[in-house]
Amino acid sequence: MDHQLAAYLDTLYQEGRTHDGPLADRLLRLRNMTPAAAGFIALLIRTQRSRSVLEIGTSNGYSAIWFADAVRDTGGRLTTVETDKTRVESALRNLQRAGVAAQVEVVHGDGGDVLTHAPDASVDLVVLDAERPAYADYWPELRRVLTPHGVVAVDNAVSHRAQLTEFHGLLTQTQEFAVHLQEVGDGVLTAVRTR
Ligand SMILES: C[S@@+](CC[C@H](N)C(=O)[O-])C[C@H]1O[C@@H](n2cnc3c(N)ncnc32)[C@H](O)[C@@H]1O
Repeated sequence: MDHQLAAYLDTLYQEGRTHDGPLADRLLRLRNMTPAAAGFIALLIRTQRSRSVLEIGTSNGYSAIWFADAVRDTGGRLTTVETDKTRVESALRNLQRAGVAAQVEVVHGDGGDVLTHAPDASVDLVVLDAERPAYADYWPELRRVLTPHGVVAVDNAVSHRAQLTEFHGLLTQTQEFAVHLQEVGDGVLTAVRTR
């Protein structure tokens, strides 16, 4: 990542923290992923050479900028999905300012719907950073859309461990995935399809 983009991400992250600080209502907060978690997932994208990355939960585009920079290196594309129209607009502005908008499609909609409409085996890496209780319902479609060596990366797996118990169980029960809880940032639950 070049210095200019790193500086822009630092500023955006600090703005997010300042914005969220006084807000008691969780849903009003931007809740950006930690730089450590976003950097780890960007590393997975580069390591896997992901061509097709799907993020559910865009907020203002902070983590999407990290992933867009990574897919620029792999020649891939990022699709990021957000239900809140104002946040979609904010993400589009921030991606443009960061100079990575060409690598990204920001979808205003529901992540579950986007999964349902995605073709079989079409996504190399899925990032889940939205409403954790919904992830278990996503599972059949997630499994269907992932490529043979597909990766799932789930943020907040340490900070909100209890909310991910069911989803974690689904990932391990299939025996199709190597599952690892990476204690970086708020915790990234990572699963790589092996068979
Ligand atoms: C934790 S924030 C995402 C933070 C973002 N990944 C980042 O690091 O900058 C969660 C976002 O998911 C959005 N969201 C909640 N449910 C969703 C759904 N079903 N589909 C898409 N987005 C959703 C919320 O509006 C919120 O902006």
